Amino acid sequence: MTFDLILRNARLVDGTGGPSATGDLAIAGGRIAALGKVEGRAVTELDVAGQAVAPGFIDVHTHDDRALLANPGMAMKASQGVTSVIVGNCGISLAPLTLDGIPPPPLDLLGERSDFRFARFADYLAALDETPAAINAACMVGHSTLRVGCMDDVERPASAKEIDAMRARLREGLEAGAIGFSTGLAYAPSAAAPAAEVEALAREAGRAGAIYTTHMRDEGDEVMASLEESFSTAKSAHVPVVISHHKVSGTRNAGRSVETLPRIARAIGEQEAGLDAYPYVASSTVLTAEMAAEARKVLVTWSRAHPEMAGRDLAEIAADWGIERAGAAERLQPAGAVYWSMDEADVRRILAFEHTMIGSDGLPHDNHPHPRLWGSFPRVLGHYSREVGLFSLEEAVRKMTSLPARRFGLKDRGRLAAGAFADIVVFDPAGVLDRATFEQPATPAAGISLVLVNGQAVWKEGKATGARPGRVLRRNAA
Ligand code: ZN
Ligand code: CU
Repeated sequence: MTFDLILRNARLVDGTGGPSATGDLAIAGGRIAALGKVEGRAVTELDVAGQAVAPGFIDVHTHDDRALLANPGMAMKASQGVTSVIVGNCGISLAPLTLDGIPPPPLDLLGERSDFRFARFADYLAALDETPAAINAACMVGHSTLRVGCMDDVERPASAKEIDAMRARLREGLEAGAIGFSTGLAYAPSAAAPAAEVEALAREAGRAGAIYTTHMRDEGDEVMASLEESFSTAKSAHVPVVISHHKVSGTRNAGRSVETLPRIARAIGEQEAGLDAYPYVASSTVLTAEMAAEARKVLVTWSRAHPEMAGRDLAEIAADWGIERAGAAERLQPAGAVYWSMDEADVRRILAFEHTMIGSDGLPHDNHPHPRLWGSFPRVLGHYSREVGLFSLEEAVRKMTSLPARRFGLKDRGRLAAGAFADIVVFDPAGVLDRATFEQPATPAAGISLVLVNGQAVWKEGKATGARPGRVLRRNAA
C-alpha cells in the first residue's frame, strides 16, 4: 500500500482525552488511512519524533463569516492548528442580509455594508464553496441578522408576522446546510426579544436537527437568570444549547463561576447542553460607555470616528481630550474595545470544567484585535495546560477536537481514527505557546509545525502554504 503521507514516530494525541501513544499516522485521499504501527510506503514520509500529532482544532466560537471570503488564507486560525471554524455566533451572521446603510452594532464587528450582500443563506454558502478557504467552516444563522432584515424597528418584540418572516429565512438557511441558530440577547438589535420569540426560532433549529448557541442576555449580575432562560428556552424548543464564551463579568461578580458551573452541570444531566470559553481575562466587543464603566481597563480596538485611536487605552484618550471615559467612548463611536472585567480564578475554573470547549471569539475585522484571534489554542496548550497545569495535554486537545465535533455534529472530524478526515496538527508539546499580545495581537504562535486540512498542508514551519482545501461543513452532509 502506498499512502500520500506518513508521519512517523509521533506522539499520537487522538482527541478522545485518553493517554497518548507513540506511533505512525498515514494519510491517503484526504483521510486518515492507518495509525499505530504503519507498514508500507508513502509519497512523503516525515519523522516527527518528539512532536505531538492531533486532530485539527475546531474553533467553535468565531466571527469569521466575512474573513473566510476576504482573507481565505485564514492565517490567524491555521497558524494555531485550527482546521475548522464555526461562524455566525452571538446572533450575528453575514447572511441572510443585504443592507442599505451602515451595519448597526454589533453587526459592524463582521464587516462593512458592502460585505452584507447575501440575501439568502444558500448564496453565502455557495460563495464559500466557490472560493474555498484554507480551513473548513460550519455556519450558523444569527438572530440579530434576522431581526435587522425582517423588522423596521428592532427595539421591540417581533410581531407574529415578523417571527414568521424570520422563521422562513432561518429555515432557508437550515435547508441550505446551516448547522445552527445563534442569539446575542445582550446586544441592542435583540435585547428587546422576549424568550418566546427566541423559542419560536430555536424550535426551527431543533426540528432540523441543528443547534442553538447563545450569547446570553446578561453575563454579570444576572448571569444565573440568563442561564435559566437559556436552558428553559432550549428545553421547550427541543434543541441542544451551547452557552457561548461563558464568563462572569464585573468585579463584584468575581468568583461566581462556583455558582454557574454546577448549574450548567445540572443542565447537562437533563438536556443536550454545552459551553465554550476563551483563555483570557479580558473580553472584546463593541465599545459602549456602560461596558467601559464596568471594566478595570479598556483598550480601543477600532473606531470609525477616530481610526488613529485603535490600540490605545480609553483612559489615556480621555485624558488627552480632557474629558471623562464615558464621553470619550461616545466620541469614538462606532467603535470596538477590549475590556478587563473578568477574574483569573473564574477563567481557570471555567476552562478546566470538563464540558468546556475552546472558542476564540476572535474578531478578524478589528484594526487592533484582542490577541485571542491569533493565540487562543496555543495559549490553552502552552500556558494553561503545560505552564499552569490546569489539565493534561490530552484533555486540552479533547476540548478542541472530539468534544466540539460531537457537540456540533461535525462528522468524521475531531478524532484520529482510520477513515476520519485528515484534519491534522503537528506541534511541539514542549514549545507550543501563544505569541499574540495585547500590544502585538497579530503574531503567530510558536511550536505549530504542520497543519493539514482534508489531507493538504495549509501551514508549514511558520508559513501559509497557499493551499485552499477548506470545505463547508453542512449539517448531515457526508
Ligand atoms: Zn458574544
Ligand atoms: Cu462572539
